Amino acid sequence: MTTIRPDSNGSPLWWQSGVIYQIYPRSFQDSNADGVGDLPGIASRLDYLQALGVDAIWLSPIYPSPMADFGYDVADYTAVHPIFGTMADFDALLAQTHAAGLRLILDFVPNHTSDQHPWFVESRSSRHNPRHDWYMWADARPDGSPPNNWLSVFGGPAWEWDGATGQYYLHSFLKQQPDLNWRNPAVKAAMFDAVRFWLDRGVDGFRIDVAHYIMKDPQLRDNPPSSGDGRFIHKPIGEYDTQLHLYDHGHPDVHTVYRELRQVLGSYDGSRPRMAVGEIHLFDWQEWASYYGRNLDELHMPFNFGLLKVEWQARAVRQLVDTVEAVLPAGAWPNYVLSNHDESRIPSRYGLAGARLAAMLRLTLRGTPTLYYGDELGMADVPIPPDREQDPWGKREPGLGVGRDPERTPMQWDDSPNAGFTPANVEPWLPVSPDYRTVNVQTERDDPASMLNLYWQLLAWRRQSPALHSGSYQPVEQAPDDCFVYLRRRADECVLVALNFSNQEQRLNLRAFGEGKVLVSTRLDRAERVRLADLSLGSSEGVLIGLSS
Ligand code: NOJ
Repeated sequence: MTTIRPDSNGSPLWWQSGVIYQIYPRSFQDSNADGVGDLPGIASRLDYLQALGVDAIWLSPIYPSPMADFGYDVADYTAVHPIFGTMADFDALLAQTHAAGLRLILDFVPNHTSDQHPWFVESRSSRHNPRHDWYMWADARPDGSPPNNWLSVFGGPAWEWDGATGQYYLHSFLKQQPDLNWRNPAVKAAMFDAVRFWLDRGVDGFRIDVAHYIMKDPQLRDNPPSSGDGRFIHKPIGEYDTQLHLYDHGHPDVHTVYRELRQVLGSYDGSRPRMAVGEIHLFDWQEWASYYGRNLDELHMPFNFGLLKVEWQARAVRQLVDTVEAVLPAGAWPNYVLSNHDESRIPSRYGLAGARLAAMLRLTLRGTPTLYYGDELGMADVPIPPDREQDPWGKREPGLGVGRDPERTPMQWDDSPNAGFTPANVEPWLPVSPDYRTVNVQTERDDPASMLNLYWQLLAWRRQSPALHSGSYQPVEQAPDDCFVYLRRRADECVLVALNFSNQEQRLNLRAFGEGKVLVSTRLDRAERVRLADLSLGSSEGVLIGLSS
């Protein structure tokens, strides 16, 4: 069993015991009737987040951006896009977030900037410009073709020809997102300055976009072909998956950068601990774990996307959790992701009962959970008519189903037109889900059977139970194949989680555990006391049981 690294008082740190809630700022709350969410809108909903029981909010990018990739194309790392508000709005939001007892995590996008960023404008102005080498430029092959076979995640080659300089530049994503050259010390210094800018303002941490992409093979070797097992189980395989991505990201030199970044963050720990969590889509678990650093001196956590990759059945999920537990370096803290702005919504993947089971799994596993706005309501993917489509990935690769608009639609606050996200007479940037009249905060608040009530209960238990927020994890062997059962324990507190992934009732004999008290069930028809020798779980039911130890 892995220990946690407590603070000097012996308590877990905020990002270990806490729950992170991701806000996609465009879609959370519009305060100025332009159909796009903004910072004052988020500030006006902090009381909701506080009452929900989450601990930190992560904001997807709020920086000036031409919005080719909705903010993941940054044109200025130390300012706020006017569509989201002003720097004064940001400072006010941060102060109010802290006053509400919450932390604020910003998105940091180090791999690429916007092609409109002044650095790139200079870089492409001439081969002799001092900033030319701030980006990944390379000469054509003798026949004029791109320097190698690397592909853009969003489709097509990763190289764009630039007539003025007579070279290609690398873009791992859109051509409007040129990759920075992190081997240039001036780039690293400028990016760390941007990090310090926000830390000085008081932010609590960063979510680092495609953190493993920043260092590539210095020889720019071709990627070999792959059998193509796909990056995301929920997205179909595209051209990108025809290669083994050996050389276009994840060069071992990446670790030096994160060791240095950790020192930057650590230099602020005196006031309060700051953190960095990296978006790292790696499923070779040894390699994934290497981002914690050999001495836990790199990222505080690499996001764990394993649950998005495994089959939704008990044995596969347990195997994944056990693998992650086994591979964690001593003292490293786990985490689990089940949803975000790039993934199909949970009820659209597993159905509503499956989404309730998923809520219990995510909020009872050992490790930091990251929720995505609207998960707590059971928001599902929203079909987007072709003329309302926004996501550049979906538009570039039509027919593959890779568009991410369905999971980015406005938050559903109430049953008024536009769900309280924006006034009724304003067209929101993406359509509001047709189910908003029943799936919304106001309606679900008063319904004991709602998803929101289930989340409230689970979050409240997680917060008050040291076993759940920072105890050990131990799988229980005596469970049927379709059930995943585990214990969470800290000191003399022990809770048992039993999850039935099947559509049939399951009977469990867990005699060794005596009797227990049902704390939460994903269904509502449960007696409070239960004999573990004869525990029956309904289809897709999960129960959280307090054991007397
Ligand atoms: C990962 C982000 O989550 C995604 O939304 C974005 O499009 C790419 N990185 C490129 O920045």
